[in-house]
Amino acid sequence: MSGNTLKNDLKKVLEEATKSIKAVNNLDELESMRVKFLGKKSSLNSFMKSLSELNSEEKAIAGKSLNNVKNAINSILEERKALLSKVSINSKDEFDLTMPGRSSSVGSIHPITKIMGKSIEIFESLKFECVEGPEVEDEFHNFSALNIPESHPARAMHDTFYLDNNFLLRTHTSSVQVRTMDQQDPPIRIIAPGKVYRKDSDITHTPMFHQIEGLYIDKEVSFSNLKSIINIFLKSFFEQDDLKIRFRPSYFPFTEPSAEVDIEYVDSKGNKNWLEILGCGMVHPNVLDMAKIDSSIYSGYAFGLGVERLAMLKLGITDLRLFYENDLRFLKQFQRM
Ligand code: FA5
Ligand code: MG
Repeated sequence: MSGNTLKNDLKKVLEEATKSIKAVNNLDELESMRVKFLGKKSSLNSFMKSLSELNSEEKAIAGKSLNNVKNAINSILEERKALLSKVSINSKDEFDLTMPGRSSSVGSIHPITKIMGKSIEIFESLKFECVEGPEVEDEFHNFSALNIPESHPARAMHDTFYLDNNFLLRTHTSSVQVRTMDQQDPPIRIIAPGKVYRKDSDITHTPMFHQIEGLYIDKEVSFSNLKSIINIFLKSFFEQDDLKIRFRPSYFPFTEPSAEVDIEYVDSKGNKNWLEILGCGMVHPNVLDMAKIDSSIYSGYAFGLGVERLAMLKLGITDLRLFYENDLRFLKQFQRM
């Protein structure tokens, strides 16, 4: 083995190794390249073995060249390894069949939205037209036009979230009664579903909840018409003909007479209880007059239904706040409702 031949051979080995290593695309192939160029059967190794045939001066020179090539190949291997390790973390081509799959969960409609939808459907079948009003309201539509003058204690019945400039978050959907009477002449037969807000929180109260307002104004509308529509709605909603419904005398400044309606249910201890689900009454003549509807010709009834309360009874939920904690374990129970 002459010095020149060795030099040429080493040059070729280095060239080949550089080219091959840079073409490698994964760590397994890289390992086989290491074996090929630096392993026991590599040409580099056989050159090492043949060093013994040289005299000591030649041996020193050839040994040095061999070591240089070996180190060069090693550092090319290291460089490639670092690059491939980084890439393989993000690599889409490489996949591990043993890794657990990523399951995709299907969303579903919130139970309250479903209860709202079902209620609206029933009222539409009873020929009520569905209308909407703003959640950010002014004091006039939320209170004054409903016969609740400023500083009247009835305003304190609602724990109101006030905004600037006499604006507020509506405390009930009754504000939509006012807006509808401004825009339509009787006969009026509407429902107004939507979100309302009050500073309330316990097992039957949340700071945001939903109401469905109902308003029917025509000639000769009576309290028995009101009772009948509430009964029809509730029996249809709960799909239960022997549902226990109680009309309890109450007070609202915008209706006279007024009532609240309770439904009987059996609690977790087996005791019978009543849960209030709505307020209602005959529209107060002052409210009609303020809306420029002649109260000597027209009369009407109105009601405001608590949607979460309906949901509680329908689904057997004892704490209304659960609907808004967004715990998927709770919400998933109603996926197929
Ligand atoms: C009212 O809001 C009246 N506007 C209802 C009305 C309309 C009376 C038309 C006459 C004519 P009340 O504050 O009682 O009334 O609320 C009505 C219903 O909303 C209650 O019966 C209850 O079912 C529900 N409700 C009230 N506050 C909350 C709350 N914080 N969380 C959940 N539901 C509530
Ligand atoms: Mg009430």
